[in-house]
Amino acid sequence: MTDPVLEVRGVSKSFGALIASNDINLDLYPGEIHALIGPNGAGKSTLIKQISGGLRPDSGRVHFAGRDVTDLSTAARARLGMGRTFQISSLAMDYTVLQNAVLGALGHRGDVFRFFRPAMTDPELLDRARDSLETVGLEEFHAVRTSELSHGQRRQLEVAVALTLSPKVFLMDEPMAGLGGEGSHRLMGFLDGLRSQAPILLVEHDMDAVFALADRISVLVYGEIIATGTVGEIRENPEVRSAYLGEEDA
Ligand SMILES: Nc1ncnc2c1ncn2[C@@H]1O[C@H](COP(=O)(O)OP(=O)(O)OP(=O)(O)O)[C@@H](O)[C@H]1O
Ligand SMILES: [Mg+2]
Repeated sequence: MTDPVLEVRGVSKSFGALIASNDINLDLYPGEIHALIGPNGAGKSTLIKQISGGLRPDSGRVHFAGRDVTDLSTAARARLGMGRTFQISSLAMDYTVLQNAVLGALGHRGDVFRFFRPAMTDPELLDRARDSLETVGLEEFHAVRTSELSHGQRRQLEVAVALTLSPKVFLMDEPMAGLGGEGSHRLMGFLDGLRSQAPILLVEHDMDAVFALADRISVLVYGEIIATGTVGEIRENPEVRSAYLGEEDA
């Protein structure tokens, strides 16, 4: 089997008496969508933050792209190809779709904001930005102000911005949240194709989406992963059914 791109090994994190992550082990393999599900407060976002670098584990290690990144900052992990999406606030609402994508591509070169104007005529950055917009299907919106996009389109633009950094993984925390049925459906179709670009660790409450998209699912309950398996395995797992899916399926 190929090596995982992302390996979480024995990660634990407590907030006072609350154990938010209890000896977590998790792998993300090339080409897969690995869904992380669990009830509210189970510790899903806390785990994502420890993987992306926003929060330090009390113990355990995170390996990414063949190296131990546990001591690296969020920015350093991003430069290594850890793409984190759907922080809507990171888009510049007054800028056009293309300008936001160029800003993302600029991050790839380690340049800073004040070079923004020349960047807009830099062929290499523009190519990178246009390629990313094409991948997410937003190329025809390149001149539209970001504030005028729908909620779903902004999420696609977030992915485009992440794509300009040529990510090796995507970490997504509830990308469907707040999208209507149609918006969720469109985003699902899009994520489906995205796994071939980079594997996705997907935190999502929408179980229809999870069951339709995921190659594997890990179930987190009270800070502990109680099961990892395929959609079929997780659906049939008695412990998962009673701990999490039980109420809906009973
Ligand atoms: N910075 C913090 N300080 C103290 N407690 C925290 C902190 N962050 C999270 N928690 C607690 O840790 C637990 C896990 O929270 P987390 O946000 O990771 O859950 P979650 O699985 O993402 O939930 P949701 O599905 O509602 O998003 C919760 O009990 C939460 O209140
Ligand atoms: Mg959360």
